[in-house]
Amino acid sequence: MAESNTSNARIKVWDLPVRLFHWTLVLLIVVSYLSGRAGGDWIKLHFWSGYAILTLLLFRIAWGFVGSTTARFSSFVKGPVASLAYLRNLVTGRPTYDAGHNPAGGAMVVVLIFAVLAQAVAGLFTADTDLGTVNGPLATLIADKWVDRLTHFHKFWVTVLWWLIGLHVLASLVYLVWKRQNLIGAMLTGHKPHAHVVPPGQPAPSLGFASGRLALSLLAAAAAIVYFVVR
Ligand code: HEM
Repeated sequence: MAESNTSNARIKVWDLPVRLFHWTLVLLIVVSYLSGRAGGDWIKLHFWSGYAILTLLLFRIAWGFVGSTTARFSSFVKGPVASLAYLRNLVTGRPTYDAGHNPAGGAMVVVLIFAVLAQAVAGLFTADTDLGTVNGPLATLIADKWVDRLTHFHKFWVTVLWWLIGLHVLASLVYLVWKRQNLIGAMLTGHKPHAHVVPPGQPAPSLGFASGRLALSLLAAAAAIVYFVVR
């Protein structure tokens, strides 16, 4: 853990790797969707974008174990009881304070990461005769009936993903409009107002931030794993 997060009115909560992960993932999901819909030669872009998504997700899962405090699964995976208690506080209008993901948001984050991972992994085994027999790189390794099943899953799951993403964006907008907390801005700048992180008069929590060099090493390792799987 390299730096600290102390400052007067605003507190650094998100490290650069988490922010870059998030907005690159958003961009790649749009690219994957559009290139998948377009078909033809765009399918090459669809493959590359899928590999990049897999790399990002492997990186993020590793970062969830060894990264900065707020990036760690242990800091935001709290289980259904805590998530429901948090939602109850939210709807009853009680003030809530969170440095990183709140317990309900944390559950949504895990669902999103694994839902996108399922889509990308299924893509590796997908074969599409509509597109002129384009095969995912691992489609020849499994029986045809499994290729069919995973191809159907890959086509169907994209709709589930859009619903999950819609819910996720809606939650961010509800926070913005109803709770007057700009979580989107925090995901861009990395900082939240002190008053949204801890109750008045309390000191800033001590958050650790892992080094950029560790992040780059994990990203390189993730890219190498994806390369060896798909080459
Ligand atoms: C392709 C669509 C998207 C996906 C797959 C996605 C996924 C995710 C994931 C996995 C995280 C957790 C980040 C981490 O801990 O590493 C996250 C956080 C977040 N996302 Fe997205 N996101 C998407 C689009 C958006 C958009 C369009 C917005 C803004 C309107 C947004 C706003 C946020 C915010 C505010 C957080 C932080 C939530 C918190 O403070 O707990 N996301 N998103």
